[in-house]
Amino acid sequence: MPDPAPADRPPRDPSDPVSLADFEALAAASLRPEILGYYSGAAADERTLADNREAFARWRLVPRMGVEVEGRDTSVEVLGRRWPAPFGVAPMALMKMANSEGDVAVARACAARGLVMTLSTVGTATIEEVGAAGAPSWFQLYLLEDLGRSRELLARSEAAGYEAVVMTMDAFILGRRERDVRLGFQLPDGISYANVRRSAHKRGDTYGDDGFKQSNTWADLEWVVANTRLPVIAKGILHPDDARRAIQAGAAGIQVSNHGGRQLDGTIAALDALPAVADAVAGSVPVLFDSGIRRGSDVLAALALGATAVFLGRPVLWSLAWAGERGVGMALDMLAAEFRLALGLAGQQRADAVPSDVVVRM
Ligand SMILES: Cc1cc2nc3c(=O)[nH]c(=O)nc-3n(C[C@H](O)[C@H](O)[C@H](O)COP(=O)(O)O)c2cc1C
Repeated sequence: MPDPAPADRPPRDPSDPVSLADFEALAAASLRPEILGYYSGAAADERTLADNREAFARWRLVPRMGVEVEGRDTSVEVLGRRWPAPFGVAPMALMKMANSEGDVAVARACAARGLVMTLSTVGTATIEEVGAAGAPSWFQLYLLEDLGRSRELLARSEAAGYEAVVMTMDAFILGRRERDVRLGFQLPDGISYANVRRSAHKRGDTYGDDGFKQSNTWADLEWVVANTRLPVIAKGILHPDDARRAIQAGAAGIQVSNHGGRQLDGTIAALDALPAVADAVAGSVPVLFDSGIRRGSDVLAALALGATAVFLGRPVLWSLAWAGERGVGMALDMLAAEFRLALGLAGQQRADAVPSDVVVRM
């Protein structure tokens, strides 16, 4: 059956979001400006933030005709699990500033859809609370100076049924986000990190000061690999040699990302870094991608450029601020529907077999 014509669709509330970008304006109506600034902002002049989006416009899609796509398959397999759609939720700090249920609301929305939720080390719900929500869960690790406590975080993740550890390599020191400076962003009263001590963040600006290891070396990645039985994904990789090096250190996956432009401004757009990393990895481990995904067609382009799957960032925070678990569910459903549409319109039958000639560089 063809997709229903617009007129056949049920009437919608005129204020409901139609695209992921719409959620930002909806979030702005309910968040204090400094909190929206923390979520939406990025480092320095925010050139990389903008370029992460512009990079998608530098590639054009070349759809194929004459293909039967009615039964197309949007699922992909990552580390032994089938995902119903080729995306999950990226790790993000301080979700409870958006909604009192925070990370757990996001995890429940993921659970209902079988999508992966990544909990941040500086998340606002415990490892156990998020695990109990029932989504396939990944734990994002910022290594603590105290390796004993780092090991405890890994052990708790294993005990709570998490399926992978994401070691973020690009945020051992924090980028300077000028919106936070201008708007005087501080950890609001009543919001705390659920898995690390607040003393770890006492310098105040956001997170990541004396409690966190101020450098992340390949030896640190090796340490993490040696101290968990979960597969470890190296997040924040942009150079093909770093991808090779991470795999040598034992990484079971590579996440191409520039942290949404929040670290070194002027950094290459994540999408522009993807093809060379995918080439270097050459299928030996999954290549994951985040930074700038806002459309189903973005997901398609990332798959064509070598990603196995992608992660959604800021739209999750905006939709959480707007309507909690229901809002996040709407955002996830929207991206899934857009991806399914894009895959079909591109004349492709399988998300796990998108050929590279679906995109051409302008
Ligand atoms: C408010 C916010 C907090 C974030 N916190 C973390 C974090 O704790 N750990 C981490 O690895 N990445 C963190 N990230 C980066 C995301 O995982 C992801 O790389 C980024 O959001 C992708 O960019 P996009 O949201 O523009 O698509 C954060 C991003 C945002 C926007």
